[in-house]
Amino acid sequence: MSNLSRRNVLSLGVALGLVSAASAIPAWASTGGAAAGTDPWWTWDDEVDRLMADILGTGQVPAVNTALRPWVNNSDPLPTGLPADLAGHLRQANRLPSWADATKLRRAADFNRRKDTYLFMLYGLGSGIMSTVIPREAKSVYWSAGGADMQDRAAKTFTFGYDLSDLNAFEPSGQFVVTANKTRLVHAAVRHLLPQSSHWRAVADEQIPISNGDILVTFHSLGTYVHRKLLEWRVPMSAADEEAFLHQWQVAIHLLGVRDEFIPKTWAEADAQSTRVLTPLLSPTTEGKELAEDLLGLTAQIDLGVTRGFLNEFVRYVLSDAVGDWLGLRRDYAAAALVRTGWPAYIAFREGLLPVAPAGFYLFDQFIRAIAMLFLNKVSSPTTTPITIPTGNRPG
Ligand code: HEM
Repeated sequence: MSNLSRRNVLSLGVALGLVSAASAIPAWASTGGAAAGTDPWWTWDDEVDRLMADILGTGQVPAVNTALRPWVNNSDPLPTGLPADLAGHLRQANRLPSWADATKLRRAADFNRRKDTYLFMLYGLGSGIMSTVIPREAKSVYWSAGGADMQDRAAKTFTFGYDLSDLNAFEPSGQFVVTANKTRLVHAAVRHLLPQSSHWRAVADEQIPISNGDILVTFHSLGTYVHRKLLEWRVPMSAADEEAFLHQWQVAIHLLGVRDEFIPKTWAEADAQSTRVLTPLLSPTTEGKELAEDLLGLTAQIDLGVTRGFLNEFVRYVLSDAVGDWLGLRRDYAAAALVRTGWPAYIAFREGLLPVAPAGFYLFDQFIRAIAMLFLNKVSSPTTTPITIPTGNRPG
């Protein structure tokens, strides 16, 4: 569908009241409605969406998945056996943008290594659970094929975080550029498939999911949120570290198909955008509550050295009691007190700002290491990635 005809469909939907909740989505720009084609809420990934619609329509997805499976490292040649137009797209998209700064990317990789335990914790428990209170994301994830098997889906999503945080992520021996390109294809397939799901259509406030705006919202729940938390927790970071961390995310969302002009240039811009378009969107949904329970249930199965009550309270601590209440996370007031006082002291000690280990140090240490291991035990083999293009939706 061309951008223009998509917009017509959507405007018609609004006019007929079919996308009634669209008005609940905050305007992107503070100046109000952006002109057609310049509003991230109304921008998708036209060329790739067309390609994937054709591949899905002609039943070529299994063959494409087979061809893509051994394609893993950034320096790997494109696999053979891909449809010509897909190969053409990947040939030009599977590279860093001209504005990528190798020095900043290397610094970001080093920063990720230095702060890895906090990052895994914040991405895993903070951003991961936040995604369940971003209604559009929760509904898309729940009603897509992957929603039926959260363990598998979580493993695939971890691949993205793992590859992004790897020391060589953007280098030829790294894997992130390929992983991001595969993810971009998965998103394009979802844009074609979800509108065919009557379950999704019954709950969605949009007709085509995963706009550039939605991807930016998710970026704010990941990068912008994590950056803010690190500042709040007084984790030492230099200005160059902060800039490098932003740069790595700018490149990542470019690779996911977000137009360069929509990508925030500074943390101040990202924070302002996040306050405008992410914060007011957060709310509970039936789908999100179930996904959160699945995710926390999975996490609790691993020996984290803490009780489920502690896990619930940690989530409340990193995301607020409002979110904890929306998700019905059972209270454990003793654990809450321990987290509130013990966690800041734990960070201060780890960062060399406290001379003696505080009470609860080993509990926090075991917890944080166990969460990190979840990321580091890469579920797949090193020569394949588990990210595959879906062929259908969640059955019902
Ligand atoms: C798939 C990452 C934004 C919905 C994936 C996958 C990854 C990923 C790694 C492949 C793993 C899998 O197949 O489960 C990201 C990142 C984003 C982002 C890093 C932004 C920075 C979004 C948004 C939505 C979304 C905004 C919806 C509003 C989905 C869905 C799937 C998917 C429905 C397919 C699940 C399936 O059925 O297999 N994403 N995503 N994603 N993503 Fe995203």
